Amino acid sequence: MASQLQFFTFNFEIRIMKKRVAVIGAGPSGLAQLRAFQSAASKGAEIPEVVCFEKQDNWGGLWNYTWRTGLDEYGEPVHGSMYRYLWSNGPKEGLEFSDYSFEEHFGRQIASYPPRAVMFDYIEGRVNKAKVRPWIRFRTPVRSVTFDDKTQLFDVTVHDLVGNRTYTEQFDFVVVANGHFSTPNVPHFPGFEDFPGRVLHAHDFRDAVEFVDKDILIIGTSYSAEDIGSQCWKYGCKSVTVSHRTNPMGYDWPANWEEKPLLQKLVGKVAHFKDGSSKEVDAVILCTGYLHHFSFLPDTLRLQTNNRLWPRNLYRGVAWEANPKLFYLGMQDQWYTFNMFDAQAWFARDVMMGRIALPDLPSMQADGQAWADREAALADSHEAIEYQGAYVQSLVDLTDYPDFDIKGMNEAFFAWKQHKVENIMGFRDNSYKSLITGTMAPPHHTPWKDALDDSMQAYLR
Ligand SMILES: Cc1cc2nc3c(=O)[nH]c(=O)nc-3n(C[C@H](O)[C@H](O)[C@H](O)COP(=O)(O)OP(=O)(O)OC[C@H]3O[C@@H](n4cnc5c(N)ncnc54)[C@H](O)[C@@H]3O)c2cc1C
Ligand SMILES: NC(=O)c1ccc[n+]([C@@H]2O[C@H](COP(=O)([O-])OP(=O)(O)OC[C@H]3O[C@@H](n4cnc5c(N)ncnc54)[C@H](OP(=O)(O)O)[C@@H]3O)[C@@H](O)[C@H]2O)c1
Repeated sequence: MASQLQFFTFNFEIRIMKKRVAVIGAGPSGLAQLRAFQSAASKGAEIPEVVCFEKQDNWGGLWNYTWRTGLDEYGEPVHGSMYRYLWSNGPKEGLEFSDYSFEEHFGRQIASYPPRAVMFDYIEGRVNKAKVRPWIRFRTPVRSVTFDDKTQLFDVTVHDLVGNRTYTEQFDFVVVANGHFSTPNVPHFPGFEDFPGRVLHAHDFRDAVEFVDKDILIIGTSYSAEDIGSQCWKYGCKSVTVSHRTNPMGYDWPANWEEKPLLQKLVGKVAHFKDGSSKEVDAVILCTGYLHHFSFLPDTLRLQTNNRLWPRNLYRGVAWEANPKLFYLGMQDQWYTFNMFDAQAWFARDVMMGRIALPDLPSMQADGQAWADREAALADSHEAIEYQGAYVQSLVDLTDYPDFDIKGMNEAFFAWKQHKVENIMGFRDNSYKSLITGTMAPPHHTPWKDALDDSMQAYLR
């Protein structure tokens, strides 16, 4: 009995001493957080208990493709915004993990613009190697997070969808990594009500084949507009018309592609634009972006921002200034993606593990203000890339995340932008040098516009 009691006391002490971290979401950002902790553990550090809550039945976030739209089989809003035939829209050399190269994963260098399935395989490879899957509770959306001033702990309430029960656990730290390209921003235009065709948001777009032989109208001029239009063109739509609110994209488009000022109204199937022109269309695809959406957070903890490079109130773009036991990953507009999420996750880890001390609130706010002022003064996308590169470097410098050639990565982004100007339907046929291994990517075996099979098998052939 005495030894049993001793054992119990020992266990209890471990439990009360060990800090607990809740990670919300197992997409690239949340997985970066798990890998950051596992990396510290592999070097002998004592790490907190990490529990990741993921609402889908697998990891990978947006890269975990689903055919579903609307609500899933549990009545949850479908997270996925990716579609069939999606290929990386920037060179993979710009997002490569600095602790896990494409060559390490595939055993050889591969071409620069992998399709979604190949990217998913790469994302999964690193976390399989790290063996962190048991840290994740799948099919478990987070319903609410509150902070108790007395205990200095977070109450995290989740819904175990499979067991159909909700429960609450306490955590010392919370990392919000639920992405921000999932809740669609859906403007209304007069005539939508009576339009005799499909009106959908990019979030619900799944397959360009649906629009073969159709005249499509796209609203918006950013990546979704460019890529969904290009997909529809590639798979045989009749024409693409893109309507812009601010500026046209201005690429040298194919003959059956035109750019128009903002849509004013639809009368039946006829779209009327701000310059007085009109065009009959069969479908409207709203590529009008996404909302940062955190239904599980109270106002005091909730990031409120548009899609920008420097969301406010986050120290170093990560720690919630008003309560820096709460962290956000990947909430920025993104030139840099996976390796930026890593740099953030390593920083958040080191704050949670007491390796990095945070300054007082006025100092954190002053630092954020300086970054925001710099963002406001950015003249063009070239400067924006350098700005985000400098931000990533500033985080990498603080932790043991392996340093990588950010200047070289900026150069790759500049080259990518130029390739798009030269040939918008051919930019994915270019190759880049890895900034992690120094190896040049081979050209892909088939030009992007002719490669209709986006499977991993076809790509790696
Ligand atoms: C159509 C599209 C194409 C893109 N293409 C590229 C590309 O080519 N290259 C690139 O680098 N980036 C691309 N991106 C950017 C993309 O944001 C990042 O690549 C990356 O997926 C972001 O990772 P994340 O983990 O921050 O968010 P997400 O990938 O969105 O993952 C968030 C995770 O949180 C989970 N979750 C959400 N709410 C809850 C909750 N309440 N409780 C528990 N779990 C929850 C979700 O199920 C999901 O698994 C693309 C984005 C979109 C929309
Ligand atoms: N792999 C791929 O190929 C791929 C494909 C799609 C998306 N993505 C990624 O997905 C992310 C999101 O991109 P996104 O293009 O969906 O969103 P986004 O970059 O936020 O762009 C939103 C667009 O919608 C327009 N818009 C917003 N409200 C509008 C309104 N009321 N009327 C008219 N236009 C309006 C904006 O126009 P203004 O300029 O006027 O504000 C802007 O052009 C990006 O990170 C991107 O890289 C990648």
